[in-house]
Amino acid sequence: MRILAIETSCDDTCVAVLEIRNSKLEIKSNIVSSQVKLHQKYGGVYPSLAKREHQKNLPLLIKKVSHNKIDLIGVTAGPGLDPCLWVGVNFAKDLAKKLKVSIVPINHIEAHILVNFIGNNFQFLISNFQTMFPAICLVVSGGHTQLILMKGVGKYRILGETQDDAAGECFDKVARILGLGYPGGPAIAKLAAKFEGGFASINLPRPMIHQKNYDFSFSGLKTAVLYDFKNRKPKERKSKKYIQAMCHEAQQAIIDVLIKKTLKAAKNYKTKSIILGGGVAANNELRKQFRERVKKEIPYCKFYIPDSEFCTDNALMTGIAVYFNRRKKKNWKKIKANANLRIDRKL
Ligand code: KG4
Ligand code: ZN
Repeated sequence: MRILAIETSCDDTCVAVLEIRNSKLEIKSNIVSSQVKLHQKYGGVYPSLAKREHQKNLPLLIKKVSHNKIDLIGVTAGPGLDPCLWVGVNFAKDLAKKLKVSIVPINHIEAHILVNFIGNNFQFLISNFQTMFPAICLVVSGGHTQLILMKGVGKYRILGETQDDAAGECFDKVARILGLGYPGGPAIAKLAAKFEGGFASINLPRPMIHQKNYDFSFSGLKTAVLYDFKNRKPKERKSKKYIQAMCHEAQQAIIDVLIKKTLKAAKNYKTKSIILGGGVAANNELRKQFRERVKKEIPYCKFYIPDSEFCTDNALMTGIAVYFNRRKKKNWKKIKANANLRIDRKL
């Protein structure tokens, strides 16, 4: 089966072509056209600008991939920025008509989860399902922070989510306060890694860490960074040492909350695995600390995390989600190119 996948939920225009035979994945193309430079001056994604760029980029990217023997087209249908999503959806509909193939609408959050199923040697982990589920999934991106109980492909329950900013959004906003540009996550991670200690006076809160629920809140953390920053003398707040210390503390505060709540959910629901996904899961320190804590506190629990390049938005994960959704739906052939796509906001 050959799948062409399109992803335009935020600021990356992404196209991929996948070939899947006997659960073995071959990546024919996986192109990500980043708009980072364009949005940098706004310190975040500017939706109407992103839409225009998708409209410009998609036809160019599509020309670069082979349309030969495509069986299905998959497209991110939500959640995401509405104007951006519709560019991808309309483009996919037209292409599906042209190629006379069916189209599968994909939930972006589910795609961030399912990209974990690329096993060693690109053989999907389908035979591992018995030992994987139930699983706790933590999806942490620029738009979402959700803890999901997963009982199988397509069987999800949202246990908790952020009440305000997403974890990635918090990285981005803290970076903006510190003048580090967009996207904030990678910039903060880089400076945090340079921190050598010796700046003990920054103590940020770990919002909702002790609450019984599985919800998150990150906007207070960003405000605490802002107050600390404003209260410093101009010379100090510009110093390398201060910026590094602040990056380290803000990153650690986010990591502490994410790990604590995820492990609590895994213990309470006695899950067999923990699955991570989304752009923030590319954070090296988060990956390292998660792995160590799972091993120490719940060694019976398996830990899955995509390669860093597959954590941030890409169309490969959309294509993988097409494969699993196609398997799930008996009548998938009936989803015609001109079918009205429903934008699913919830899993
Ligand atoms: O999943 P993603 O590519 O797009 C959305 O679906 O939102 O996630 C983007 C988010 C941005 O907020 C970015 O700052 C964050 O992921 N991010 C990181 C890292 N790389 C990307 N956050 C922390 N550390 C990173 N290394
Ligand atoms: Zn995403």
